[in-house]
Amino acid sequence: MAATSQVLLLLATALVAGNVRAAESGIHKIPDAPLQALAMTNPHDPVTVDPAILDKGARIFRTKCQKCHGELGDGKGPKAETIEIKPAAFSKPGYLSGRKDGQLYWIIANGSPGTEMPAHGPGTDINFTPDEIWQVITYLRRQFTK
Ligand code: HEC
Repeated sequence: MAATSQVLLLLATALVAGNVRAAESGIHKIPDAPLQALAMTNPHDPVTVDPAILDKGARIFRTKCQKCHGELGDGKGPKAETIEIKPAAFSKPGYLSGRKDGQLYWIIANGSPGTEMPAHGPGTDINFTPDEIWQVITYLRRQFTK
């Protein structure tokens, strides 16, 4: 019994150390959405979207995302300084054009485990509806695609 708990403790320590090293050396990678989620598409076209929908997305971004992802979408919000695994920089050239709608949706809904990126989807504390998630994605694409 004692030996077993020692092994478990060693394993746990190794896992934590591994995570810390991954964060320090920048190895951490945002998890890939499962194929089913990747197939989802945004019902709003960022180019032709109704301005009222875009406004809703902007309001969500300002109140719920900007403190980490930054007013300019560069990942440099005031809260970013204190967190180890840094927020995604949407305005980095090629970043958003290289991400599928379903990938963005999945991370926004479920968060990124082991990082500060919260889960916002239905049933979470934040409890966005699917359409609210699409509204903020529409805003991200319109505002920060470079
Ligand atoms: C407390 C800080 C924090 C808040 C608030 C936050 N995020 Fe994030 N976000 C992060 C971090 C950190 C990551 C990087 C996660 C990783 O590296 O695994 C991230 C990653 C992402 C990604 C990257 C997904 C990908 O696959 O490229 C998207 C999209 C995103 N956030 C959208 C949002 C939206 C939209 C909001 C507001 C509704 C929001 N985030 C609120 C910290 C935050």
